[in-house]
Amino acid sequence: MPNLADLDLPRLELDDPGLKGRRWHREMNELLDSGEWLAQAPLATVVLDREAGEFFLRTKSAIFPGQLLADLFGVTDGPLREQIDNNIINQEGDAHRRLRGLVNPSLSPRAANGYRPAMREFLEGLWDSLEGDDASNGGVEFDFIEAFARPYPSQTIARVMGAPAEDAPRLHDWSMWIQRQFDAIALSDPDTVATIQDKVAEFYAWVRPMIESRRSTPSDDLISSLIATEEEGERLSDVELENLVLNILVGGVDTTQNQLAHAIRLLAGSPEQWAALRDDPETLVDRAVQEALRFEPITPFTARQLSDDVEYGGVEFPAGTVIMVCSFTGNRDPEAFADPTEFDITVDRGKVRNLTFGAGIHFCVGSNLAKAELSEALTFFSERIDRLELCDPPELQTVSGIYGIDSLYVKATPAKLEATPEPA
Ligand code: HEM
Repeated sequence: MPNLADLDLPRLELDDPGLKGRRWHREMNELLDSGEWLAQAPLATVVLDREAGEFFLRTKSAIFPGQLLADLFGVTDGPLREQIDNNIINQEGDAHRRLRGLVNPSLSPRAANGYRPAMREFLEGLWDSLEGDDASNGGVEFDFIEAFARPYPSQTIARVMGAPAEDAPRLHDWSMWIQRQFDAIALSDPDTVATIQDKVAEFYAWVRPMIESRRSTPSDDLISSLIATEEEGERLSDVELENLVLNILVGGVDTTQNQLAHAIRLLAGSPEQWAALRDDPETLVDRAVQEALRFEPITPFTARQLSDDVEYGGVEFPAGTVIMVCSFTGNRDPEAFADPTEFDITVDRGKVRNLTFGAGIHFCVGSNLAKAELSEALTFFSERIDRLELCDPPELQTVSGIYGIDSLYVKATPAKLEATPEPA
């Protein structure tokens, strides 16, 4: 059986900042068409195939390589390292099981849906303060990132955490910076690492008094619910509690922001899909959420490092190998998804799971909250916007880390204006 090192794998230049947009789609689709299931990136072996990806995400012979990445870039001390060592994604076995057991109920589908009225309120507030340029046909042009994608998830997470609404911009800033601990390009810059260290320290200083105040005055928020769980036998230490809250903040802002942005980008780029959504949101909103997650995952990769030698697909993978499982290609498996290279919200793709939220023990703990936020936002916009169009080409970030969007100018023609009859 060949060893991984003996294989002549196609290269995937993930450190190339130009790998995004159409080029990203073209190169990954070409790799898929070539029939390869593995590729070589600068720091890791990329698994392109869906089934193989599921295998590596679920195997007990692998861990999430967060600490390895920190070691590699010399992040050996300070608040950032403290946070990385305590991050739920870097825990395994019983320690991880225990934390998930304590946090899962606070982010169940029911708990997530309970925040929907607040989500709608935030969207209404943002819609009312929408400022843009008046365009022809009664439409308005604005940057969707600035107007909705950026503020909405941090307002939601502030509500989830029971933080004051006015702290949402700070939460956004912390989340955006601290999230970069997963991005090798960001970690290779010492100035960026120094800033992340400061941001983690600021967050700890902010969250500690808040946890204290929830201990004396519980409310209907996640921190209170984590404290309550703590008091029912299984105890969370202070360090575990503040780090769980940080993990939820860091996992829950930049991600939803950019997945919503891509959903709107895709829908605005396809007038007939928008029209279908607007005409039948009840059927199509949840399909649109799933389709955006499948077609343009903002987490194109999630990683594992093998802790033992592993054999899979007729190849020996030695212990220590770093694997990046590619959700972009996994989500295009033609056996799981009909017409996988098409973005089509009208197709019922059934219950087939895509790889965007990962798989196995680290499967995204916030997936219910993220789906509720996306679904509430698409419902809201489908009720208010008759026509949605792209103005300028969006400014895309790189696919390394979170695949985000810096600016997304759209033109929205409000439904109520369209419905107004012409004066006689
Ligand atoms: C569209 C939005 C989101 C996407 C695409 C996403 C994606 C992911 C992925 C790929 C993982 C790693 C899974 C693995 O390696 O198997 C993950 C883990 C995680 N996510 Fe999310 N996420 C999103 C939203 C959220 C939200 C809203 C929260 C918080 C409320 C959150 C909190 C977390 C946490 C704490 C983990 C670590 C879980 C563990 O180690 O057990 N995420 N997410």
